Amino acid sequence: MSECVAVVGAGVIGGAIVRCLLKSGAVGRVIATRRKTDRLKSLEDMGAEFTGDNVWAAREADYVFICVKPGDVGGVLKEIRDEVAGKLVISTAAITPLKFYGSVAPEAKFVRTMPNVAALVGESFTAFCCDENVTPRDKEVVKRLLSAMGPCEEVEEKYMDAITGLSGSGPAYVAIVIDAMMYAGLKVGLPRELALYSSAQAVLGTAKLILERELSASAIKEMVTTPGGTTIEGIYQLEDGKIRTALMRAVEAATEKCANIRYNWDNEH
Ligand SMILES: NC(=O)c1ccc[n+]([C@@H]2O[C@H](COP(=O)([O-])OP(=O)(O)OC[C@H]3O[C@@H](n4cnc5c(N)ncnc54)[C@H](OP(=O)(O)O)[C@@H]3O)[C@@H](O)[C@H]2O)c1
Repeated sequence: MSECVAVVGAGVIGGAIVRCLLKSGAVGRVIATRRKTDRLKSLEDMGAEFTGDNVWAAREADYVFICVKPGDVGGVLKEIRDEVAGKLVISTAAITPLKFYGSVAPEAKFVRTMPNVAALVGESFTAFCCDENVTPRDKEVVKRLLSAMGPCEEVEEKYMDAITGLSGSGPAYVAIVIDAMMYAGLKVGLPRELALYSSAQAVLGTAKLILERELSASAIKEMVTTPGGTTIEGIYQLEDGKIRTALMRAVEAATEKCANIRYNWDNEH
């Protein structure tokens, strides 16, 4: 395929997108940009072109990803506005609403996404929403590109903050759970590597039971919990420690933070 994608802001998420696009072969050319171009060497080794010139990259590209921090989106978009007229522009920036993109570059077609850092291993869940200029045919392109990072799903824009608080931040929550389980393993005398590996694999395996075997969380609990057995002793302590409430509070706080940042940002602009 001769299609070309530019990824403006190839940091953590942008870099993961470049890698996934190259690995999947979803497009023929991938151009990565950032200001510190010396940090793009590893992407070049994988087959990406790289440049510090966003305007050139956007001009060359059929589709443009914007992966800079939310505060940098406006500046980057003004810079490439003429080059993206009529093109699909896919942004990963949290918080930033579709109406903002349209106000800066009204001739482009915008897709707002929320991936997560598991894109680094092609296992992101990516939610996306589109402005009214994005056609059904464009959406097929969007799904093809995003699928290189893992599963994706179109959602209403009103859900984007909640998706950010849940699955955008999700790897951080799960990493804390795995870390805590690893320490629990140390507490009962397991070697560190064995404790970490068995904890992470338990999380991976449980996710697969839910996603691939379509088992419910409660069905899995029932399968593991023998009356009067060992697991119920652990579950009792977890429920006593209010693990569910803690996770609900975490997601709620992260979701509310999105709205608060946007409110302050709206007042400044
Ligand atoms: N990290 C996550 O888990 C995650 C998850 C979902 C969504 N997101 C969203 O994805 C976006 C990127 O997040 P990130 O964590 O990947 O941040 P990051 O690692 O800081 O990447 C942002 C990149 O943008 C580059 N950049 C800044 N200004 C630029 C400019 N004018 N032209 C070209 N490149 C520029 C920076 O490199 P230079 O300084 O070298 O230019 C940096 O590498 C954010 O909007 C965030 O909300 C992140």
